[in-house]
Amino acid sequence: MADAVGIGLLGCGIVGAEVAQTLAAHEKEITQRVGARLEIRKVAVRNLGKDRNVVLPDSVFTDNATDVVSDPDIQVIIEVMGGIEPARTLILEAFAAGKHVISANKELIGTLGKELFDAADRAEVEFSFEAAVAGGVPIVRPLKESLAGESVERIVGILNGTTNYILTKMSEEEMEFGEALAEAQNLGYSELDPTADIEGFDAAAKLSILASIAFNANVVAGDVYREGITKVTLADIAFAENLGYAVKLLAIAEKVDGEIAMRVHPAMIPATHPLASVRDNLNAIFVEGDKVGEVMFYGRGAGGGPTAISVIGDVIDVARHIVGGGTGVRHASTGTAKVRPMNKTRSQYYVLLRIADRPGVLAQVSQAFTDNDVSIRSVLQEGFGDEASLIMVTHTALEQNFQALLTALRHLDIVEDVVSSMRVQSAED
Ligand SMILES: NC(=O)c1ccc[n+]([C@@H]2O[C@H](COP(=O)([O-])OP(=O)(O)OC[C@H]3O[C@@H](n4cnc5c(N)ncnc54)[C@H](OP(=O)(O)O)[C@@H]3O)[C@@H](O)[C@H]2O)c1
Repeated sequence: MADAVGIGLLGCGIVGAEVAQTLAAHEKEITQRVGARLEIRKVAVRNLGKDRNVVLPDSVFTDNATDVVSDPDIQVIIEVMGGIEPARTLILEAFAAGKHVISANKELIGTLGKELFDAADRAEVEFSFEAAVAGGVPIVRPLKESLAGESVERIVGILNGTTNYILTKMSEEEMEFGEALAEAQNLGYSELDPTADIEGFDAAAKLSILASIAFNANVVAGDVYREGITKVTLADIAFAENLGYAVKLLAIAEKVDGEIAMRVHPAMIPATHPLASVRDNLNAIFVEGDKVGEVMFYGRGAGGGPTAISVIGDVIDVARHIVGGGTGVRHASTGTAKVRPMNKTRSQYYVLLRIADRPGVLAQVSQAFTDNDVSIRSVLQEGFGDEASLIMVTHTALEQNFQALLTALRHLDIVEDVVSSMRVQSAED
């Protein structure tokens, strides 16, 4: 039995430095749990001159990442450099050299996961990525292992902390979107370029990873229908609250008639739903299964400390196999289920119309709903004259019918403006 397992770190930024610090701080317990010491033997960074405030000797640092993945004294690679390249090539080289890999890189796994899963299987090495989805919240391993006997029907997640923080500020402090985004950036929750967060790309990458595990499906981030939160207004949030809903950026994956439907978009969710109370930059994943019913995972979706704990959990798991034998769960998806097009998904909807204030308006609007096979669940008329508006919530309808309805409403003379619309995620779905 080896008395130490050699670790190579690719990256020593927010997550990598915290991994190094935590491995040192928890060394005794981790050694007992593994049955051997975990030893960081090489660390690749871009800039060797940077002050890193980690308890590692200068001699382990290199700016040549290939040296790390080819080092024969290293059995486990931790990839926390981010981005597609050179991370992808380095991981493939590590597999080819017989090394196990742990990664926190949602962008890479959400885009090119299949290539990496297949390569790991071919090389008979382990590839784990708990930290790639919801940082410190355990969800990858629970789906892969604890719920492996379940037929998961639906996953509804709040997978992006930045957008949840912005929506919380808009809802609780009536802060405008731009101001809330600036605050999220000041707090370090969002990058200087916030596109990946606010346009839903980050949540889509994470959702595709979860769906690939839960449904054994070959899906990637590009298969996820995606809308960001930039069009959500304070008025939408106020109307939602009056109707008993909270507005969240939801990431939803579900099995429908043997197909996999995946979408990320702002949605109204009943204020009584557990996801409605997920505030600030926290993350949560609500899993619905055939036998288990509903299970929710909740916590810190980002930050060096929480993310490092997920990374180290994966490292300990693989190190235990190195020391004591056995292998981890293989990931390559064998499923052949197709991705369901967005226009074939079903949801409830909210729509806000500015209308002419004259008799017969409600009848014409109702007729448009009937003509498009969308049934009205509730309707509220507010204001008079130029301010007259209709706030409507539908029963569950087909997305393509709802989109056709919006077009029809825009063509009605008595509808001055379709001010906004939003999907409603509720128990009726
Ligand atoms: N931060 C979070 O809260 C969080 C949460 C979940 C997942 N993640 C994921 O974890 C990964 C790391 O995130 P992070 O926030 O720790 O990033 P970060 O602070 O920017 O750190 C990246 C590190 O990688 C090094 N690096 C980048 N490109 C390199 C290259 N070509 N060769 C050698 N070294 C290179 C950088 O070196 P220098 O230091 O010399 O620049 C830096 O040490 C990303 O995939 C991210 O999506 C992060």
